[in-house]
Order: sequence, then structure tokens, then C-alpha cells
Amino acid sequence: MVNDSKLGLGGHSFIQELGNDPQASFDEQCNIVSACLDNGIRFIDTTYYQERVALGAVLQELGRRSEAVIMAWNFFNQPGAETKLVDYTPYEPHHIDVMLEELQTNYIDILVIHVHKNTEELHKELDLAKKWMQEGKVKKVALGMVKLEHLCQLLTDHQVSYVLAPYNAFNQGAKEMFLKAKEMGMTAIALSPFIRGWKLDEIGGNKGSVAEILLRWVAGQRLIDRVIVSMRKEEWVHTNLTAIDRGPLTQQEESKLREWIRE
Ligand SMILES: NC(=O)c1ccc[n+]([C@@H]2O[C@H](COP(=O)([O-])OP(=O)(O)OC[C@H]3O[C@@H](n4cnc5c(N)ncnc54)[C@H](OP(=O)(O)O)[C@@H]3O)[C@@H](O)[C@H]2O)c1
Repeated sequence: MVNDSKLGLGGHSFIQELGNDPQASFDEQCNIVSACLDNGIRFIDTTYYQERVALGAVLQELGRRSEAVIMAWNFFNQPGAETKLVDYTPYEPHHIDVMLEELQTNYIDILVIHVHKNTEELHKELDLAKKWMQEGKVKKVALGMVKLEHLCQLLTDHQVSYVLAPYNAFNQGAKEMFLKAKEMGMTAIALSPFIRGWKLDEIGGNKGSVAEILLRWVAGQRLIDRVIVSMRKEEWVHTNLTAIDRGPLTQQEESKLREWIRE
């Protein structure tokens, strides 16, 4: 049995937009997911509906649904915008069955609720998630793109066990929120260590070693339980696992990183 990895696979791995490499073919997507599951990367995020459809097809093809911990956000297919990346929509009662069908499964491991300013609406979504948990359609609930204020607005009997937010060496704005979430017993999931990979191009130099330093910085934070990275080729799975295995940054690497942040 392989060790559970801190690394998770991002859903943007399955789409063309929001990355560098072209969209992975279906065969490559199967190779990516197989490499993840074979190496202890069980957490697989899906943000846009297109990612749920893709992951559902891949897991079906591989026959490995039960090995994955699927995270799914409330971004839906809208009539007339099937090929677009449509913004999030607050959960409504019919959404869960749509998501399950797209994912070709009968449960979602972690249902992610994208936060917003309307507290009353957010509480309604949490109630809906609680009902879906009781029905066995959802195992755990997460808040996504969370700010400190959202944690303060939670009622005492809330069922949120995970928080997700972009967090990397260049954007540490979520630190206080993650600290509070940990105090509340939640699991902290950092997204986007490379800022969609665009930061790697901006820093320049040897992309591989820059990526390794950025990834090891996040993974080395005690505060962070998991790190979600999108990877459009199988090769990145092995590269990123090896990087994480190297452990926290040395002092020399830390100072190199500080230089990049100052520039
Ligand atoms: N950022 C957000 O606001 C946000 C919001 C909701 C959910 N998420 C979740 O978080 C996941 C990750 O975030 P992200 O996709 O925004 O950014 P990211 O993971 O920081 O960056 C992904 C990019 O890094 C490249 N990459 C991966 N490993 C690499 C390596 N070893 N060397 C060089 N390049 C490498 C990939 O390139 P290729 O294209 O070449 O594979 C990909 O384009 C998403 O997929 C999604 O599931 C993020």
C-alpha cells in the first residue's frame, strides 16, 4: 500500500484553459489519473462541470472510482454556454443529481461550496449539503475561496471539515484563514502553487527547479494539509511527487525564493 500523498490533482488538468500545455488527450488523462492513484495521490479536484465529466469518464474507464477522493465545486453547465467556463452558482436542490451524473458516481467525497457575501444564502447551501450528507450523496463538506469572515459566520453546528483557497509563496493572504480553520479542526487545502504555471514563466530560468522550489515551499508549510496542482501530463505527476519527497526548502533555496518575491 502506497503512502497517502500531500499532493492532489487539480481539475484544470482536464481542460484546455487556465494552463500552459494543450488539453491532454483522453488516454493521457487516464495515464495522469492512474499515475496519481498508483502513487498515493487520491484527492482529485473538479471545479468546472467539464472537469467532472472528464474525471467521471476517466474513472469509469479505469474502474478506480473507489480509490479517488473526489472534490467537486458548484460551477455548472449553463444552456448556451456549454463550451465556456461559467462562474459559480449557489447550490440548488437539483444540482447534486446533475453532479453525480456528470461524475458517473453515486456520491461525492467532498462537496465544495464557493463562498460569497450573502450569509443567509450560504447558510441555505450548508443546509442543503447537510441534507445530501444524510442521503449519502455527499460524504464531507468544504468551503472554497474562503476568507476569515466566512469562518466567523459559521453556526456552531456547521458540518464544514475542509477549507480551500489559493495559497503560495507569492500569495499568502489566506494564512490567517487557514490558521483559524485549523483551530476549528478543519483540514487546510492550498490551491495553485504555481499560479496556474504562469508564475513559472514570469520567474524564468530553469522552470523545473523554480517549480520544485514553489511546490516545496507550500508543501513544507505545517499549516497546509494538502496541495492541489494541475498537471496536463503524466510526467508532472512523478516530477512533483519527487519534489515533495525532497522536503522543506534549505536556507539557500529560501533566500532564492525571497529574491523572486522581491523582484
Ligand atoms: N487558482 C484558483 O483560483 C483555483 C480556484 C478553484 C480551484 N482551483 C483548483 O486548484 C488547482 C490548481 O490550481 P491552478 O491550476 O490554478 O494552478 P497551479 O496548479 O499552480 O498551476 C498549474 C500549472 O502548472 C504547470 N505545472 C504543473 N507541474 C509542473 C512542473 N513540475 N513544472 C512545470 N510546470 C508545472 C501545469 O502545466 P501544464 O499545463 O504544462 O500541465 C499547469 O499549467 C486547479 O486545477 C483547481 O482544481 C484553483
